[in-house]
Amino acid sequence: MAGVEGLSIVVTGAGGGLGRDYALLLAEHGAKVVVNDLGGARDGSGAGFEMADAVVAEIKEAGGEAVANYDNVATTEGAQGIVRTAVETFGSIHGVVNNAGILRDASFAKMTEAEWDAVIKVHLYGGYNVTRAAWPHFREQGFGRIVMAASTSGLFGNFGQSNYGTAKNGLVGLVNTLALEGARSNIRANAVAPMAATRMTEDVAPPELLEKLRPEHVSPVVVNLLAEEQESTGSVFVLGGGAVYRVALFQNAGVVFPEVPTVAEVAERWSEITDLSEVTLGRNPVG
Ligand code: NAI
Repeated sequence: MAGVEGLSIVVTGAGGGLGRDYALLLAEHGAKVVVNDLGGARDGSGAGFEMADAVVAEIKEAGGEAVANYDNVATTEGAQGIVRTAVETFGSIHGVVNNAGILRDASFAKMTEAEWDAVIKVHLYGGYNVTRAAWPHFREQGFGRIVMAASTSGLFGNFGQSNYGTAKNGLVGLVNTLALEGARSNIRANAVAPMAATRMTEDVAPPELLEKLRPEHVSPVVVNLLAEEQESTGSVFVLGGGAVYRVALFQNAGVVFPEVPTVAEVAERWSEITDLSEVTLGRNPVG
């Protein structure tokens, strides 16, 4: 198995939490890792070199290869800087894990535009910016691996996280199209919705549950998604505490009206339209 041996991989937000663990396991399996982290607080405020530097030191101590980068994924220039670090240090870029993230939770009624924008910028634009900067390299070399950090908050909704859930499911939409557009160039794009005890989740779940949700459970799946022989693309996985589930959209048998229906005819068939007792994998009818 070739795995990730010798591949040059960017992990954004790798100065702590899940990203740190992805970086450590990738390096242990022979990848050359760009450890990107802005070094700020959970809400995105502040910045510093210490977090990324500490992870790079840890990887080097264990005999692995890594370089630190402190750029901001939320800007085009930052993302270009991250990809440049990979190319200048390791000669190429083979994969990106768009993992950097912040939280600005508030109910939809109370959420300010600044809270909405900050989260969309880091998660949705961050994932777009870094992928966009790496994409020409992937196409040119006929190889690329992309993992987006999604969330169950986007897939299923979560109180207080309309900004975050929107950004996260935006990345799933991006993955769906990147999987199609990248197929001929051996580019695979997938998303993971992790569940792990980090500073991001320290106050959202009880300690007994968090103890079972270690980042180490998530990382082996992410490393597999970046592996050279990986064929899966356009998939979404929910994972944590040892569980690994694939999540997909299904569609029901539905109703097909032979003529333009009246409002009343739609209302009459509503129970059939919403019935999920028989479903098949959903697909783009014009794709
Ligand atoms: P974390 O807060 O420990 O890690 C996020 C890292 O991203 C931090 O080290 C932070 O400094 C960095 N970062 C933030 N903004 C940045 C920017 N603009 N540029 C570069 N780096 C930046 O959180 P955690 O839990 O490790 O989350 C990792 C990813 O997984 C996030 O995208 C998060 O939304 C996602 N996720 C985590 C879940 C969990 O259960 N921990 C659940 C669902 C999704």
